[in-house]
Amino acid sequence: MHEPRIIVALDFPDDKSALQLAHRLDPQLCRLKVGKELFTATGPHLIEQLMTKGFDVFLDLKFHDIPNTVAKACQAAAHLNVWMVNVHALGGRKMLQAARKAITPGTTKLIAVTLLTSMDQDDLADIGLAGQPAQIVDRLARLAFECELDGVVCSALEAAHLRQQLGERFCLVTPGIRPRNNDATDDQRRVTTPQQAIRNGADYLVIGRPIAQANDPLLACQQLNSEITAASNIRVEN
Ligand code: C5P
Repeated sequence: MHEPRIIVALDFPDDKSALQLAHRLDPQLCRLKVGKELFTATGPHLIEQLMTKGFDVFLDLKFHDIPNTVAKACQAAAHLNVWMVNVHALGGRKMLQAARKAITPGTTKLIAVTLLTSMDQDDLADIGLAGQPAQIVDRLARLAFECELDGVVCSALEAAHLRQQLGERFCLVTPGIRPRNNDATDDQRRVTTPQQAIRNGADYLVIGRPIAQANDPLLACQQLNSEITAASNIRVEN
């Protein structure tokens, strides 16, 4: 059995809906992501419940604050024994280093968000960030790498380049995934199939609605896993 590479986004307002979906999924086939909405509504108790069901949890709170505050938040996340937690690379080198120091390498994975994909060039100009989004993503991913974080969240389209630049051990987590036979892009602007994401070097795929809104979420997860396994075999053969 391969380790699960799908991370299902639990984008729900309360613990009841989140647990309902978790109950229909299998920890052998996927991990779970808890973000700001759900965590703010439910707190650490839900994380414990999900972990008791055998799931690895990615706590997606994107910490961004002064180094000391982020370090303490990372410590608190590591105490929850979550599998993965993230911070904003835009918090800068000192903040990233403080986060790294707060979490023992090899325990909770510490990754960074580079640029939010919701920001276009005008948004970046508004806050005084010059350059193409792709260049900024590259720079911030390298900064996270230099600060010895375990990886970054990036679009599958950026993954190939980052994999090439930052090597095999840097973890790439990619959202914006839609199965091959799925026409719905929802509000995602640039979507990628699981196969393409894996071929581009992604380690983990964050998938929300294609699983959460499927009639049979477990079956959707199984089908996505088959796509991933097929693509992984091609990548290994290459
Ligand atoms: O439903 P869908 O598959 O689009 O959900 C994707 C998940 O990944 C959501 O939780 C969303 O917030 C998250 N995400 C994203 N794009 C990013 C970072 C995170 O879609 N750049």
